Amino acid sequence: MCGIFGCVLRDGNAAPIIHSSLKRLEYRGYDSVGIATLSNKKIYIKKEQGKIDEVHQLLNLDNMPGNIGIGHTRWATHGAPLQINSHPHTDCKGDIAIVHNGIIENFLELKTELQNLGHTFVSKTDTEIMAHLIEETQKQNPHLNFEQAVLASLKRIEGSYAFAILSTNQPDKIICARNESPLVIGLNDNAIFCASDIPAFLSLTNKAVLINNGELVTLSTQGYEIKKINDASPITRNPITIEWTPEMAVKQGYPHFMIKEIHEQPQVLCNTLRIQDHYLDLLSTFLDRANEVFLVACGTSYHACLAASYMFSKLAFLPTYPVYASEFLEQHGKSVNIDSTILAVSQSGETADTIAAVACAQQRAATVLSLTNTIGSTLTRISRVYIGTQAGPEIGVAATKTFTSQLSVLAQIALKLSKKRGKISQDEIDSLEEKLQQLPIVVETIVTNQEEKIKTLAKKYSKTKLFFYLGRGISTATAFEGRLKLMEIAYIPSIAFPAGESKHGPISLIEDGLPVVFVCPKDDTHKTVIGNIMEMKARGAHILAIIEEGDEAIKSLADDYIEVPKGIPSVLTPIPYVVPLQLLAYYTAVEKGYNPDMPRNLAKSVTVR
Ligand code: AGP
Repeated sequence: MCGIFGCVLRDGNAAPIIHSSLKRLEYRGYDSVGIATLSNKKIYIKKEQGKIDEVHQLLNLDNMPGNIGIGHTRWATHGAPLQINSHPHTDCKGDIAIVHNGIIENFLELKTELQNLGHTFVSKTDTEIMAHLIEETQKQNPHLNFEQAVLASLKRIEGSYAFAILSTNQPDKIICARNESPLVIGLNDNAIFCASDIPAFLSLTNKAVLINNGELVTLSTQGYEIKKINDASPITRNPITIEWTPEMAVKQGYPHFMIKEIHEQPQVLCNTLRIQDHYLDLLSTFLDRANEVFLVACGTSYHACLAASYMFSKLAFLPTYPVYASEFLEQHGKSVNIDSTILAVSQSGETADTIAAVACAQQRAATVLSLTNTIGSTLTRISRVYIGTQAGPEIGVAATKTFTSQLSVLAQIALKLSKKRGKISQDEIDSLEEKLQQLPIVVETIVTNQEEKIKTLAKKYSKTKLFFYLGRGISTATAFEGRLKLMEIAYIPSIAFPAGESKHGPISLIEDGLPVVFVCPKDDTHKTVIGNIMEMKARGAHILAIIEEGDEAIKSLADDYIEVPKGIPSVLTPIPYVVPLQLLAYYTAVEKGYNPDMPRNLAKSVTVR
């Protein structure tokens, strides 16, 4: 997730406006920043890694000529957060400048093709290919103007994008295009703007035009023209008036970042499905060669590791050891060695315990692999191979979208490994891959259909003094994560156990009316879970079950239930089944009057041990 912005002014300098608008988009990304302006048929660019204020101090972003320009604030996906990878990117001659939010899936093929035609690339990004593609299209079709060349080039791009493009060929215009990544236009008497989000220009205008997928927009001092990308047919769309305050706009109208981030999960899951195959392949090759594999993390990321241990075992027959990073040194510090592989998982990539575990393993010559949401973080710098989880910045302290994105990437790695090891049939792999592709829609359905019901349940249970969370098999990880969410933001003491363990002690706490949340997908554990539900009911527990749609057996036993669409393979269940638990925790916190974005005593990134 990155932020893009562009503006065409009737008079005045564009750069200071771009700079302050990017500042308002910083919540979309903040590892590098860049601006391109156009004046007297020449493009000027300033860009650097670092936060906007740091880069401004270094380069003075306001001091650039021209009434037209584009800007970008980056959250790295392809290529580390370095000056060279910062946007805007240009073609070979520097006549085209481009900013982009999204992921171009076929960039490697296009890059090779363009390199063979003599184009020189300076960055590791997917974005840069678009500048060269437009250049090449114009070279091969000199009769095309800038807009026509962009239209033709877009037809060759696969993936998600919101582009804003400048060219000396039509120096009074910005061309924008959208597929899946957000894009809005704003306008006032003196200027026209394009941006990833409304907050970027809300202090300048409240008149906005929303751009849909598959549309191209040309901005000039004359206004805006929208066209369909597939046939260039014109579209008429009038501006709407935005009633949000700037604070509401940053949260896109949601009251808190956490609920916004829960709602973002379908889009984030789509992004995770675009991760380049060769990264997944590389990581799974290392895992395949390993003698022993430790999955190391803290908090929510640890729960992703726990779920992954079931995925690796069931799909690739690879035993792995999930370990709390804070325990790694004591538990394995002496035995970890050159034949060990560590897969560290961390949203921030900066968690001190995770870094310490990795450093210890590295000193003892183990191979370090990682999964993180923050490219450029310490973890990426000390790992042999890392994969970015593509969730974009997460501002709510409680991890939500980063958890489901970690699970999606881990499931893809497990599937790759499974293919390599040939442990399950191709039919089964194909079916799992198909189901994985459907998860964004499944999650969307859960949020749409269950949110109101969960709000009511949160009211009903908000006065409870203690909660139990139980699951079997991979659902143990889901139960652990549901418990953590409720505890950390609603401050309700909660206990989570594998359901089978509950009768070895915790069951003594059960008394009349105590709520027990059961995570019960219809997998191999279903029958046994029914037995566990009966045990709890017999002692007066109140059962709240997360079930597969139409699971009449559990419906007849539960006091309350939340339904998840049918047909999710067991190894993928944590992704959709955790969503109702995130919503339950969120609405319970709100019901109790707490701010879920800033739970007491917690920090987003825990950098002390
Ligand atoms: C999750 O909601 C918590 N905020 C916390 O447990 C978090 O997952 C943990 O601190 C690990 O952080 P990391 O993923 O950035 O390493």
